[in-house]
Amino acid sequence: MIKHSTNRQPNRRQVIQTGIAGIAGAAVVELTTQANAQQREPAPKPVNPNSRFAGKVVLITGATSGIGRAAAIAFAREGAKVGFCGRRENLGNEVEQQIRKNGGDATYVKADVTQPKEVESFVNRIVEKYGQLDVAFNNAGDVLSKPLHEITVDEWDWVQNTNLRGVFLAMKYQIPHLLKRGGNIVITASQHTVATRPGFSAYTSAKRALLGLAQAAALDYGQQGIRVNVLSPGITDTPLFQRTTGGAKEKVEAARQLVDGLKRIATAEEIAEAALFLASNDCPYITGVSLLADGGMMSGL
Ligand SMILES: NC(=O)c1ccc[n+]([C@@H]2O[C@H](COP(=O)([O-])OP(=O)(O)OC[C@H]3O[C@@H](n4cnc5c(N)ncnc54)[C@H](OP(=O)(O)O)[C@@H]3O)[C@@H](O)[C@H]2O)c1
Repeated sequence: MIKHSTNRQPNRRQVIQTGIAGIAGAAVVELTTQANAQQREPAPKPVNPNSRFAGKVVLITGATSGIGRAAAIAFAREGAKVGFCGRRENLGNEVEQQIRKNGGDATYVKADVTQPKEVESFVNRIVEKYGQLDVAFNNAGDVLSKPLHEITVDEWDWVQNTNLRGVFLAMKYQIPHLLKRGGNIVITASQHTVATRPGFSAYTSAKRALLGLAQAAALDYGQQGIRVNVLSPGITDTPLFQRTTGGAKEKVEAARQLVDGLKRIATAEEIAEAALFLASNDCPYITGVSLLADGGMMSGL
């Protein structure tokens, strides 16, 4: 397991860099608990069979926590059968149970997006179980923050394999299924696709490459009924963000202050809603774009 941390002192400039990145790499203190995240969630509503994803099968990478977890719950609430992966079995099972408890249908498969065989098996198991694939939300990702020359080759590979190659692998195995009925692919990138900060060379490279991947795939498959879009979240209150702040109130407040538009950071549920929009047929003419969901932060730069 690669540990990623910086030696930088937490002065204001660095806090701002961390905030702008939304997901800095000072992952030193693991104080976030899933229980805390769950306490902030609104109570799930019963499944409405007439909603946007009724009868659809949705596949999500990285839904054991954060944005992916919120999206799995939201897709299921809107009628989708949801297949999702992540490496932490206890959390995967918990998300599956929560969805089922609320009347939805979900299946967790333990899979690491850096492992081609696991990704292939995950996709095929879900399609085998539910009989089709309509939406893929390729969301799994992680961050590293340190100056470029301090990044080890293993760390570089880990960031690229998780954030970029993992999405390629997911799409490689999803697209043959999506070609049968048409569908939508949504990829989680980051506000780093618009503006980055010192310390994020590996992460920014991977996230910007996702836009190229999405645009090229949008051309490859547009006439075959598949739309491919990128969702670029701003600072979002997930376990990933909470790890970076270590729960320090001043860091959370500094991040909030950076969001010039709405003056607050996003909830995972708000970002999930943007993913559902791109994945739905509410936007049939949108493909090959990045939707920036940053509360107006980039507008203030
Ligand atoms: N939070 C922010 O401020 C922010 C801003 C911009 C973009 N993003 C992006 O949003 C996405 C979701 O992040 P989050 O904030 O929701 O963080 P999170 O709570 O840490 O969730 C990350 C998810 O990705 C999964 N994951 C990571 N590496 C994986 C791997 N090798 N194989 C399978 N699953 C893997 C994790 O599951 P396991 O650990 O169980 O494998 C987890 O479910 C990421 O792509 C991130 O880069 C976040």
